[in-house]
Amino acid sequence: MSERVLSGMRPTGQLHLGHYHGVLKNWIKLQHEYQCYFFIADWHALTTEYDNTSIIAPSVWDMVIDWLAVGINPGDATLFIQSKVPEHAELHLLLSMSTPLSWLERIPTYKDQQQKLKEKDLATYGFLGYPLLQSADILVYKAGRVPVGEDQVAHVELTREIARRFNHFYGREVDFKKKVKEAIRKMGKKNAKIYKELRKSYQEKGDHEALTTAQALISNQQNIALGDKKRLLGYLEGETQTILPEPEALLTPIAKMPGLDGQKMSKSYKNTIALREPPSSVEKKIRTMPTDPARIRRTDPGDPEKCPVWQFHLVYSKDETIQNWVQNGCRSAGIGCVECKQPIIDAILAELAPIQERAQHYIEEPALVRSILAEGSEQARIVARETLKEVRQVMGLVYR
Ligand code: TRP
Ligand code: SF4
Repeated sequence: MSERVLSGMRPTGQLHLGHYHGVLKNWIKLQHEYQCYFFIADWHALTTEYDNTSIIAPSVWDMVIDWLAVGINPGDATLFIQSKVPEHAELHLLLSMSTPLSWLERIPTYKDQQQKLKEKDLATYGFLGYPLLQSADILVYKAGRVPVGEDQVAHVELTREIARRFNHFYGREVDFKKKVKEAIRKMGKKNAKIYKELRKSYQEKGDHEALTTAQALISNQQNIALGDKKRLLGYLEGETQTILPEPEALLTPIAKMPGLDGQKMSKSYKNTIALREPPSSVEKKIRTMPTDPARIRRTDPGDPEKCPVWQFHLVYSKDETIQNWVQNGCRSAGIGCVECKQPIIDAILAELAPIQERAQHYIEEPALVRSILAEGSEQARIVARETLKEVRQVMGLVYR
């Protein structure tokens, strides 16, 4: 399996604590473990903002500054803008030719988002194609893993089906069997035997562990050419070579970052704290945050389970003595809500201070930010061009 990781975010403006705890902290960890490609999905933003495109460009800059400020490192991960790699669009178009409409219509986000954004006309060609464009994003890098939240798993599932269909149509070769036999021979007696046994286990018993083991065995072969590797990978599962490998969703460990009102933190609920929120505003937002409605007077006991402030303590007060202080103090009315909120204010300010300092650095160096994205986009293009060359070739679109 490819050790390439790919993920994207739509440019929606400045990021907030929900993005940080829910997504970015995970990216920061992954960038050390895999070859990571993180991109700004400006074309995806167009699917809903086609009538208001002026917000996209500023949002792109705000977003990448926030990525850099939290510690996404352009030395470890490749950062780029989707529209700077036109191969995404070409692959999207080529895949669109063989994608059944029903596959797109049945994706839950299609109807859900139309419901949610009723004031927008999302009965568009582009919006229906949103998940297919996402598939192209993933497949153009042959990414093995895609870190996403729960809501995006269906899109990765679709990507797997799209890849399978593509390989089915275009992964066929004349003399495939003969070439596979030859490739197996090249593995050497011992590995060839293991390969055949693993394949049999998978094909006859559906043993998925055997499949992954066999895939690893093939990736580790030093003296087998890439073309043969594709045949060997394909033969494990069927009679075609694998041109576009099926990715796997890497579910983001759910760090539930609540919003100020206890719902999920999200811009559309207006309950966020931005990563670049000024300290005075952080303080004010926490101070005015709702608490257990039963605590009308200071002397009324409360229940942390009914209070969004407690949700914040779960994120920020890892120290059990603070948690116990909240639990006991709230239930006995031993502490007041103002007091209870102070450790959270302190923790958020401490968390944001270094982020804001780094953000300031990038704000003052726009040329640096531009060059990071330009270089990343060039780097990404090298990989994307390779894939498209191969895709055009297997589809028979080479005119020389
Ligand atoms: N649809 C994703 C979101 O809304 C963003 C995205 C676009 C993406 N292309 C992607 C995520 C490819 C992962 C891989 O969050
Ligand atoms: Fe919420 Fe803390 Fe007040 Fe209890 S004391 S209601 S947990 S803010």
